[in-house]
Amino acid sequence: MADELVRRVLGLPPDLQSTSLLSGAGLDEVVAALDLRAGQVLLDLAGGRGGYGLEIARRSGCRVTGVDFSAVATEQARHRAQTLGVGGSSRFPGG
Ligand SMILES: C[S@@+](CC[C@H](N)C(=O)[O-])C[C@H]1O[C@@H](n2cnc3c(N)ncnc32)[C@H](O)[C@@H]1O
Repeated sequence: MADELVRRVLGLPPDLQSTSLLSGAGLDEVVAALDLRAGQVLLDLAGGRGGYGLEIARRSGCRVTGVDFSAVATEQARHRAQTLGVGGSSRFPGG
């Protein structure tokens, strides 16, 4: 329920999991500024459940490595990556 509220207020994609306050419009700007391409790697430090990193990977085709000291968060990120079909191009070590 909290996730749904945050996503709705910030205008984020319905399946993006985040505890941060970057809005959908902000995410659009980040994606444009990074200009990542297929084969390049996004390093998502303190990436939590991988919400933003996985969304950027989904939009750009880049690879993503997410680092977080929460084993629960990294496990959720791995699961999310599989669900999105980007498990093979993402890494969330730990846990
Ligand atoms: C506010 S959350 C943001 C998570 C994610 N970036 C997002 O936008 O949804 C901060 C994250 O930083 C992680 N974190 C804090 N200190 C850390 C550290 N020293 N090493 C790795 N992760 C850390 C926490 O576990 C938490 O998932």
